[in-house]
Amino acid sequence: MRIDIISVLPELIRSPFEASILKRAQQKGLAEVHLHNLKAFGLGKHRQVDDYSFGGNAGMVLRPEPLFDCIESLEKERAYDAIIYTTPDGKRFDQKVANQLSLKGNLMILCGHYKGIDQRVRDHFVTHEISIGDYVLSGGELAAAVIADALIRLIPGVLNDETSALTDSFQDNLLAPPVYTRPAEFRGMTVPEVLTSGHFKNIESWNHEQALTRTQERRPDLLEE
Ligand code: ADE
Repeated sequence: MRIDIISVLPELIRSPFEASILKRAQQKGLAEVHLHNLKAFGLGKHRQVDDYSFGGNAGMVLRPEPLFDCIESLEKERAYDAIIYTTPDGKRFDQKVANQLSLKGNLMILCGHYKGIDQRVRDHFVTHEISIGDYVLSGGELAAAVIADALIRLIPGVLNDETSALTDSFQDNLLAPPVYTRPAEFRGMTVPEVLTSGHFKNIESWNHEQALTRTQERRPDLLEE
């Protein structure tokens, strides 16, 4: 998978891709993330990328020319399976969307800023408009990093224990069951006996029951889907 992220503030999200699982995925050649500064395509001496919105609404909007130029220069190099725009008015991101997008080869993510991007860019290029939740961030960069993280960890071979993505919360519309590690007794608090029994079938059904109970208590909406 290759992800090209276009932003006016790429520094904001450089570090997540230089650490931990996301770094390892890139070192293993399973994922590539490229950050592009939209200002390189800005207009004039000042590399202007934004302007006042027509109609007098408060706030700046990213102009179409730098975005068209940047996107078209990337499209000259390769075809994109999806061009995502991160925006609070997009479709809510969830594990289902993550699973679908993780199967794609080349993705582009456009990060909104200020009051967003000129509608003509959305109409012309964007295939998926995604919100990561009902709150407003100061830019789409953190949303792009969230989306990239959720996708990359699903690529086979990225996680050491391949089954661990399958047992995540939300894969099955269930939250994950509680987990324990050593020591089996700590300050008088013990680990549920079944987990130390070595009886695989019982452990499996205990985990499932716990997942179901947690989901009923915390996220009953997931069970209605
Ligand atoms: N940009 C600003 N807020 C956002 C959100 N909630 N999701 C995606 N992009 C955003």
